[in-house]
Amino acid sequence: MNAYSALADYYEIFSDKDCDYESWSQYLYLLLRRHGCAKGADVACGTGKMTRLLAAKGFKVVGIDNSEEMLAQAMSAGRATYVRQDMTELLLPHKADFITCVNDGTNYLNAKKTEIFFKRVADNLRTGGVFVFDISTPYKFSNKIADNVFYIDNDDVTCLWCNRTEKDKVTMDLTFFVREGDLYRRSDERHVQYIHGVKDLSERLDKCGFDVLSVTDSYSDRPLKEDSLRATFAAVKR
Ligand SMILES: C[S@@+](CC[C@H](N)C(=O)[O-])C[C@H]1O[C@@H](n2cnc3c(N)ncnc32)[C@H](O)[C@@H]1O
Repeated sequence: MNAYSALADYYEIFSDKDCDYESWSQYLYLLLRRHGCAKGADVACGTGKMTRLLAAKGFKVVGIDNSEEMLAQAMSAGRATYVRQDMTELLLPHKADFITCVNDGTNYLNAKKTEIFFKRVADNLRTGGVFVFDISTPYKFSNKIADNVFYIDNDDVTCLWCNRTEKDKVTMDLTFFVREGDLYRRSDERHVQYIHGVKDLSERLDKCGFDVLSVTDSYSDRPLKEDSLRATFAAVKR
C-alpha cells in the first residue's frame, strides 16, 4: 500500500511523542511575523497539525499534501483549507508570503526532486517571501534510523517499522496489526526517504533564488550541532 495509507489513522498519536508542534509553531510565528507574512501554504501538511496551529495564530494558510488518507484526517479536523497536490508540482492561486514544509516532507524527495520543489516554492512566493522547512539530519539517519527495527505497541494497534539504508536512500517498511474485535487486520506500507546534507540543500536553495537566513537546531535559534537530529532551514526569496 502507499505510504500513509494505514499510518494516517495513527500518525498524530505516534508523531506527538517526537514532535513539539506547539514550540515549533511559536518559532514559525515569530519568524513569519518578523517578515510581514500573513498568507501562505503548509506543504506536505499531512494531517494538518501545523496547518491548524498556524491558522490559530492568525495566518491564512492552505494545507497541501499528496496523500488522500492524510488529507482526510486533516479535513475532518477542520480549521483550514486543504488541497491534494504533489509538492514537486506546487501551484498556488496567488503568490504566498510564506511556505512551510514541516517534519521530514523534504526527506521524501531525492536530490533532483528537492531542486524541482525549491523552484516550485520560489515560483509561488512573492519577492521577500519566506520558506521554512526541516530535514532529519544525516546524523539522525546514521545513528537512529539506520538499518534499525522499531516497534510501537498500543492497545488497538501494533506497528513494526523496518529500515534499510542504501547510500542516500532509506526504505522504511511499516507493518500494522490493527485490532478488530478478537482479530488483528494486517496492512503493509512502504516509505522511501532520502538523506540530504545541509551544505547541498543550502547550495540548491541559492541556485533556486533564495538567500538562506539560518539553518538551526529543530525550530529554535540554537546553532545546528554535529549531533542535531533535525535541521530547520529559513530562507527568503530574492
Ligand atoms: C512525516 S509527514 C509530515 C506531515 C506534517 N507536515 C506534520 O508535521 O505532521 C510527511 C508528509 O509528506 C507528504 N508527502 C510526501 N511526499 C509528498 C509529495 N511528493 N507531495 C506532497 N506531499 C508529500 C506525506 O503524504 C506526509 O503527509
